[in-house]
Amino acid sequence: MELLEAIMERRSVRVFKKQDLPEELVEKIIDSARRAPSAGNVQPWEFLVARQEATRQRLANAAFNQTYIKEAPVVIVVCADEKRAQQAYGDRGKNLYCIQDTAAAIQNILLTACSLGLGSCWVGAFREEAVKEVINAPEE
Ligand SMILES: Cc1cc2nc3c(=O)[nH]c(=O)nc-3n(C[C@H](O)[C@H](O)[C@H](O)COP(=O)(O)O)c2cc1C
Repeated sequence: MELLEAIMERRSVRVFKKQDLPEELVEKIIDSARRAPSAGNVQPWEFLVARQEATRQRLANAAFNQTYIKEAPVVIVVCADEKRAQQAYGDRGKNLYCIQDTAAAIQNILLTACSLGLGSCWVGAFREEAVKEVINAPEE
């Protein structure tokens, strides 16, 4: 699918087939995410891929029980590393750039998923601390 077509066709999908996603498709999606632009090319992101049902369930719970999250075969948790961004750009890196950078990466994820014929949805409503616990994230 051409980029413009993916941009025009993409929409949030919240119903998923009970079907595994081949690893190579997940890798393509993550690869497209890490090619997003980032301020000073700091790339202050980490991508965690949750496949296990129990983990997806916990992530759904952390996202105010948005149940469709558990139904997706793969959930990608996108993290912004504030510390890395701060080291490069101080408060602006921490408060702005690392959020913009990861947002650009997420948009790549959604568009690549669409171009591969996959549905996806950006999930922003979740309890930070609960997700941190699920993925065992360090404080930054
Ligand atoms: C920052 C952000 C957070 C979002 N959080 C959620 C969410 O928690 N749950 C959800 O179902 N959709 C969420 N969405 C998806 C939006 O609801 C959706 O993109 C919007 O309604 C436009 O629909 P479309 O994606 O089909 O064009 C989020 C989108 C963005 C950009």
